[in-house]
Amino acid sequence: MRILFLGDIVGRSGRDALTDKLPGLRAALRADLVVVNGENASHGFGLAPEMARAFFLAGTDVITLGNHAWDRKEIIPYLEVEHRVVRPINFPPGTPGRGSFVAVLDDGRKALVINVMGRLFMDALDDPFRAVQAELQKHPLGRAVQAAVVDVHAEASSEKQAMGHSFDGLASLIVGTHTHAPTADHQILAGGTAYMTDAGMCGDYDSIIGMQKGAAALRFWKKVPGEKLAPAEGEATLCGVFVETDDATGLAKQVGALRVGGRLSQLMPGF
Ligand SMILES: [Fe+2]
Ligand SMILES: [Fe+2]
Repeated sequence: MRILFLGDIVGRSGRDALTDKLPGLRAALRADLVVVNGENASHGFGLAPEMARAFFLAGTDVITLGNHAWDRKEIIPYLEVEHRVVRPINFPPGTPGRGSFVAVLDDGRKALVINVMGRLFMDALDDPFRAVQAELQKHPLGRAVQAAVVDVHAEASSEKQAMGHSFDGLASLIVGTHTHAPTADHQILAGGTAYMTDAGMCGDYDSIIGMQKGAAALRFWKKVPGEKLAPAEGEATLCGVFVETDDATGLAKQVGALRVGGRLSQLMPGF
């Protein structure tokens, strides 16, 4: 299975880049499954249902969220009917929405997608490790599902790497989001799981994690209520990771980083 994962879509520039470029990218990469993180799509904060619909129309199969999951309240009733949008699985029991989704491709192959949030330097939540373990056990890789993707929405590289190594061999791809800068450590781990500490955001990189740099920098200089943060409006770079898996095992055969458009150096997986 050929899987494209794109990191946090930030604001209008991120949304426009996705809807403009994803149809072409999906065809060029012959992608079977496209997963995007949408937690910052709405002006940096949350995801509105009409944005999710536009992402699906452009060729997205599953949308993951994160700490900004509920910033646009309209998403809460939407998640009751649209199970292709998933919020972190380790939100406490009783929280609206679901933490995973099994996508069924046109040819019948199945792909499990899990969204989980880290706890280091983030909100106190249920144990992300036990939550992912339980979900992966419910959908054994290479048997119940042909692929499994885990979006680890976390601040600390250490926690994301711990997640990668803990579930090496049990997922096709474990990829980090939330820090909004692509790391260069994409690799296939010893047990066959593709891993990348952060996919990077899909947003304008002339910014501070996607937000206009002046107001965002001022927050570090002065202890006064800053200007309201707004997304930077230049052309976005779509950032993510691309994986080809073996359907028999669900493990990764090839992994490559992707950076398309905007100001970052360009990179297209060559397989
Ligand atoms: Fe984010
Ligand atoms: Fe986040």
